[in-house]
Amino acid sequence: MLNIAVFGSGAGSNFRAILTAIQQGDIPDARISLVLSNNSGAGILGIARANALPAIHLSQKQFPDERSFAGTILSTLSEYGVNFIALAGYMKQVPGAVVAAYRNRIVNIHPALLPRFGGPGMYGTHVHEAVIASGEKVSGATVHYVDEEYDHGPIVLQRTVPVLPGDTPESLAARVLAAEHEVYPSAIRRIAEEERTSGHHTA
Ligand code: GAR
Repeated sequence: MLNIAVFGSGAGSNFRAILTAIQQGDIPDARISLVLSNNSGAGILGIARANALPAIHLSQKQFPDERSFAGTILSTLSEYGVNFIALAGYMKQVPGAVVAAYRNRIVNIHPALLPRFGGPGMYGTHVHEAVIASGEKVSGATVHYVDEEYDHGPIVLQRTVPVLPGDTPESLAARVLAAEHEVYPSAIRRIAEEERTSGHHTA
């Protein structure tokens, strides 16, 4: 069973898509254990609260250094029995100590077809601006494992969408976001299913 912590900074539409898939029984081997945000006003925390899920605000700014921030994240994850982390619009880098403790247990969704259009500075609307500026005919969404480098770890699943003539960063973002809402639950379903069939033991 995947006991998932979802980390996000914004509206939380990807989290909502994952939660809906779980509630509908589409991902039988996963549940949401908590939602964590660096932003106390983030929509993602409101969605969690509305669904009676633990909604936790934790920001580097509340701590004197990264070590104490990472320590509190890790103790919180352990308190809730978390064994898997899904980043869903989390606009901060996950502390290295958390990546190390959850090696191959963290996934992220990126609004482009990695390995292109990723890396530092490539988030949100910047990604779509870059895709349009480069004249690409296709973009999409990528779910990948997280390692110490931005947007770098092994790819789990991708979904493509067309880039249409006249697209603005906003119109392309909306098309990609709709693809994200399909591909993220599918990727988590695949990982949960693989763990169940391989007999991988998780807490
Ligand atoms: C999504 O488009 C996600 O791919 C992007 O932020 C948005 C969050 O939307 N993430 C990144 O750019 C991370 N590099 P949501 O809060 O509605 O899920």
